[in-house]
Amino acid sequence: MNTTDRKPRKLHVVTHGCQMNVYDSARMADVLAPLGYTTVDTPEGADMVIMNTCHIRERAEEKVFSALGRLRVLKEDTGGKMMIAVTGCVAQAEGDILLKRAPFVDLVVGPQAYHRLPELIAQAHRKQGSVIDTEFPTEQKFDFLPDAAASQGVIANLTIQEGCDKFCSFCVVPYTRGAEASRPVTSVLAEAKRMVAQGTREIALLGQNVNAYHGEGPDGKIWSLTRLLAALAEIEGLERLRYTTSHPNDMTDELILAHRDNAKLMPFLHLPVQSGSDKILTAMNRKHGADDFRRIVARLREVRPDMAFTSDFIVGHPGETDADFAATMALVRETRFALAYSFKYSPRPGTPAAGLPQVEAAVGDARLYELQAELRRQQDEFNAESVGLTMPVLFTGHGRHAGQIAGRSPYAQPVVVENATELTGEIHEVKITRANPNSIIGILIDKEKIAA
Ligand code: 5AD
Ligand code: SF4
Repeated sequence: MNTTDRKPRKLHVVTHGCQMNVYDSARMADVLAPLGYTTVDTPEGADMVIMNTCHIRERAEEKVFSALGRLRVLKEDTGGKMMIAVTGCVAQAEGDILLKRAPFVDLVVGPQAYHRLPELIAQAHRKQGSVIDTEFPTEQKFDFLPDAAASQGVIANLTIQEGCDKFCSFCVVPYTRGAEASRPVTSVLAEAKRMVAQGTREIALLGQNVNAYHGEGPDGKIWSLTRLLAALAEIEGLERLRYTTSHPNDMTDELILAHRDNAKLMPFLHLPVQSGSDKILTAMNRKHGADDFRRIVARLREVRPDMAFTSDFIVGHPGETDADFAATMALVRETRFALAYSFKYSPRPGTPAAGLPQVEAAVGDARLYELQAELRRQQDEFNAESVGLTMPVLFTGHGRHAGQIAGRSPYAQPVVVENATELTGEIHEVKITRANPNSIIGILIDKEKIAA
């Protein structure tokens, strides 16, 4: 098979894990489109199934093997014709183990090699047995992957940075995604413009350490995320900007001030802190303390009083005592999050913390339960406090029920408006009247937009 062979084929892509994987899955579909592959919603009848995997916690990895078990049955039903590719972080970290446990997998491709998929598929067709590519090439995959071909919609993601050099003691990312690399400014701006031309109004810039962005600018200089955000804000038709995920140590004052000075940058920040205990933060190799996080939050609230925060927490990291956990709870109570994700520590092979004495499972479970209850309470409180406020909502499409339209608040809350005319892609003021656990409900201020 070569790229001129365009026999129609069906491709099914399953995505696990983070937004970066969602973005990568779409790019893989773009890479395969010239070969005649069109995407289908189910694996039944597909010529090729790509499973784009996540390795961040043990449970994510288990999901891969159970899903592969189901795919194996489908493959047997096709007499072995269906091709199965495993991509993403499990492919990168466990490629060899994966092929031993699931020898019916045809292709194992790490995140740095997606641009080589056509070639690897051709190899797999020629060869009896599996093909594996988990090299970390010196060139960046940014230079090879096509830009987003299909429109992602009113709200879209754009990957601008990949990898991590921080080596937190619990994390596999530096091993699976490699060293930090930033995409050049010109390429980011060109892709953003194309997205806007296709109807995108809000872009979330993605990167494992997105605020460490240091891409080469058209002037030959290195641009910071703040400078990139300023250039993106100039694009007419692009109304909103976000970025995720950030590290506290790269939260520069310049970037903090952008939340005041860049009118398109939303008052919202996902800033994982992981723990409120300095001892545990040191053990995690985070290279910041709890007070550094407090200072960043306070400074952002000073320059942008309506700033909303989300975060990630790990409980039960090796060495975590009751007092350490109490420090986490104290930080959470004090900060007041709009939403936050919390996880029980999961030892990952090859990471420094995996070899340390582990916290008892039941203790970890109890801490997670307590933390999640508090975070749930804060999320409810945040949504409840929206009631009575009027805020600009970017409309994305229809709601679940007839006559409803759906959109997003500046604080990334899903918003539902009843009895409205079609407003997709537009921003209108909405008065919030009710709060649900995961969304808020409101009415349009502009009476003309209300459906008869
Ligand atoms: N165990 C539990 N949670 C983890 N995370 C990363 N590695 C682990 C691990 N080994 C969490 C962190 C990170 C989020 C994406 O996943 O909180 O910010
Ligand atoms: Fe993992 Fe830490 Fe890098 Fe985030 S900053 S990807 S938690 S090593």
